[in-house]
This record gives sequence, C-alpha cells and structure tokens, in this order.
Amino acid sequence: MSLEERTQHTGPRPARPHDRADWRKMLGVGVIASLLGIAAGLLIDWFPIAASQEAKSIDTLWDVLIIFSVPVFVGVTTVVLFSAFKFRMRPGEENLDGPPIHGNTRLEVIWTAIPAIVLVGLCTYAFIVLEDVEAADSNPVKVRVVGEQFAWTFFYERDGKEVVSRQLHVPIGRQIKFTLQSKDVLHDFWVPAFRMKKDAVPGINVTYTVTPTRAGIYPIVCAELCGLGHAVMRSTATVDPPEKFATWLAALGKPAGGTGAGGGGAAGGGAAAGKAVFTSTEGNCAACHTLADAGATGQTGPDLGKVLKGKDEAFIRQSIVDPSAEIAPGYEDGIMPPNFEQTLPRAELDALVKYLSEVTKEG
Ligand code: CUA
Repeated sequence: MSLEERTQHTGPRPARPHDRADWRKMLGVGVIASLLGIAAGLLIDWFPIAASQEAKSIDTLWDVLIIFSVPVFVGVTTVVLFSAFKFRMRPGEENLDGPPIHGNTRLEVIWTAIPAIVLVGLCTYAFIVLEDVEAADSNPVKVRVVGEQFAWTFFYERDGKEVVSRQLHVPIGRQIKFTLQSKDVLHDFWVPAFRMKKDAVPGINVTYTVTPTRAGIYPIVCAELCGLGHAVMRSTATVDPPEKFATWLAALGKPAGGTGAGGGGAAGGGAAAGKAVFTSTEGNCAACHTLADAGATGQTGPDLGKVLKGKDEAFIRQSIVDPSAEIAPGYEDGIMPPNFEQTLPRAELDALVKYLSEVTKEG
C-alpha cells in the first residue's frame, strides 16, 4: 500500500447505525451482571453460625459492602469484556481512527463524585460498626488467653485468684474481655462464630471484647501461621447460660467428681477415667496421637502404641509433663504443649498415666 492510499483510508470511523443501541446494551449487561453478583453475595450463606452480638452488626456490614462493591468488580469487568468484543475493529477498519471524542466534563464529574461519596459513606459506616463492637462494658468477664506452640490456655478470675483451664467457657449475655498473650511467637485468637480475631503478640497485651448470644460449642482457631503444629492449634469455646457457666467456674481446678458425694471412684477407675481424659477436649491427646485402644489416629505426634510400648509409669508421666525430656525419633521438640501439668487436674493426669501404661504394656 502506498503512502497515498493509506492517507486516503485514515480518518475518523463513520458512526455505525447501531452505536447508540450497543451503548444501551452495554449498560444493560453491566446492570444484570451486577445484580446476579449481588444475589450470589447475599443469598449464599458464607459464614458460620453467628453466636455473638458483634457477629450481627459485622454480618450486616458485610452485606452492605457486597451491595456496593460487587457492581464495581462484576459490573465493570463485564462492561469491559462486552465493549472489547462489541466495539472491536472490523475488517477494513485497520487504518481508521476511533470516533473523535473530546472528553465529557459532566460524565467525568459524575464518575468521580459517585465513587467518592460511596467510599466516604462506607468508611463512616464501617467506623461506626467498629466503635460499636469495641464499646466496653463496665463489668465484663475477664479471660486471659495465653497462646503458645501449639495450644491455648485460659485464665479466669475467681475470688481474687486466677484459675487455669484448657477449655474456654463463657456465659451468654455478658461481655467477655479477652486479654491475649503469647509465650513464644505470633498466634491469632479466633472464634469464627464470634467474628472477632486479633493477634496474640509476645510481650504485649492485646484485648478485645465479645458478647455471646447463643449457647453451643464453637471452634477456636489459631489464625496466624505459628509453626509446625499451627493446623492443630485448635480448641473449643463453650457458650453456656449464666448459671451453668457459674457452676463450671466454681468447679474449675477442683478434683473431678467433687459434685457428687466424695468422688472416691476416681482413684479406683483410674484406667477408664484416663481413657476419657485422653479423648476429652481438656487432654485432647487424640488430636495429635495415634492410639488403637482409644480409636485415635492423630498424625502430628508419635504413635503411642509404639513409643510407649513396655514403658513404666514414670516415663509416661515425664513424657506428658516434660515432653522435651526425650523426643521420639523422627519428631521435633517443641510441638507438644509443655503445660499439661498446669492445665490437667492432678487426678486426671494420674488417671491418664495409668491408662497409657496399661494399654501400651504389650504395644
Ligand atoms: Cu498458633 Cu497458628
């Protein structure tokens, strides 16, 4: 093609007869895609059960954010794809310019002003929700939460003293103030049903509050990669009616069976009681260890049927309360929590040792 021929073909593309209809179609496609996106965002149940007052306002905030942000992503993406197809270059238009457009001040003011207003509005709303979920009550239930590789321990105040628990129990309808601490690395204390989570940082106290509204047992998850045992750093939060919580707190740390007369059965039924400890959430041995007798298949720690085979009670006790003393071949130090002596009541620990000694005699 000569220069002369090319100059003859350049210049603005003449308007197509359907341009205006295409433009309307483009808007229509964007609106429909946005509506479908919003519907998917709102109709699908994305979250676990909501078990706290905070969860309600946070879930509502999420819904509002979906309504405003889905059109921005789904709508804009669809319009871009539609335009790229619909207004693409046709054969014979290779040397033509697009239509001569010199900007449109009114359009530019609108598409700057609307997102700015939406953004300021959503930020204000999110800030109000944040203030609301962080508002402190005058008389919360205080729980000190200590994270370490790879377990959570909970400390309660009772009669001016601290009592320790491996399980988290909280009452319905009272604000709970968690004070998070870490003994080693960053962890993150998260109860998805409460919707609140914060890092536990070594050396400082991090706090947040939650008001449980629904009885039940909910998972506690460590949400910060903290080492080899991160995935098993789980526990449960039990939400109880206030009376039940008070009973539990009063009995915390006292010998098992104390609610009945004497509780003399604990010593006699040692092995059977020990099996219960093994599988309980207090002991939670089954989460990490394999033990045929207890139906446990955990893979994080060694198979107890093998490593404890023929070992005496003293060795087994040491392995539980001081797991670093001797590490099974092929396993690493520091995976098993070192604080079972503090978190398991004495009678339960004794029963657990007795049980493990009996079931691993023959391997
Ligand atoms: Cu602790 Cu992840």
